Amino acid sequence: MNLNNKILAVIALLAWWVFAAQASSRDDLAKRLEPVGQVCIQGKECPGMDVAATAGSTGGAKSPDDVIGKHCNACHGAGLLGAPKIGDSADWSKRAKEQGGLDGLLAKAITGINSMPPKGTCADCSDDDLKGAIKKMSGL
Ligand code: HEC
Repeated sequence: MNLNNKILAVIALLAWWVFAAQASSRDDLAKRLEPVGQVCIQGKECPGMDVAATAGSTGGAKSPDDVIGKHCNACHGAGLLGAPKIGDSADWSKRAKEQGGLDGLLAKAITGINSMPPKGTCADCSDDDLKGAIKKMSGL
């Protein structure tokens, strides 16, 4: 690359950078012009506010199927990373024996063990939610 080409490349880069900067400030502007707050009344459907709706429901207990489907199944469905498979009662009961029963397994599920993440990634699960999921997966 000779000097002229280098200069051209730098100019092209600068032009692109200026353009990109303008584009992103336009996006920011559009965001700033959005209404400041949107009220979502519980029990009503609020399009585009799924997150708020689920956040509001964390108070209640979750069904084992829900917890397993959203969190545990990712690994325990296929036995990923050596996770005991759903319904593999031999593996689950061996583990239950090692940990001193269902409550021992629950304790490990809360803290996490090796590749098993704390609470199996269900950060807002209560102990009971996790216990229900473990019961259902293990058949214990
Ligand atoms: C990222 C993958 C992953 C997810 C998601 C996951 N687990 Fe696990 N789990 C594992 C692995 C791997 C093991 C085996 C750990 C070991 O013994 O080395 C395991 C083991 C366990 C054990 C047995 C612990 C023991 O002491 O032997 C329980 C109980 C458990 N998981 C519950 C759950 C529950 C409940 C969920 C969902 C809320 C969940 N896991 C989600 C990977 C996962």
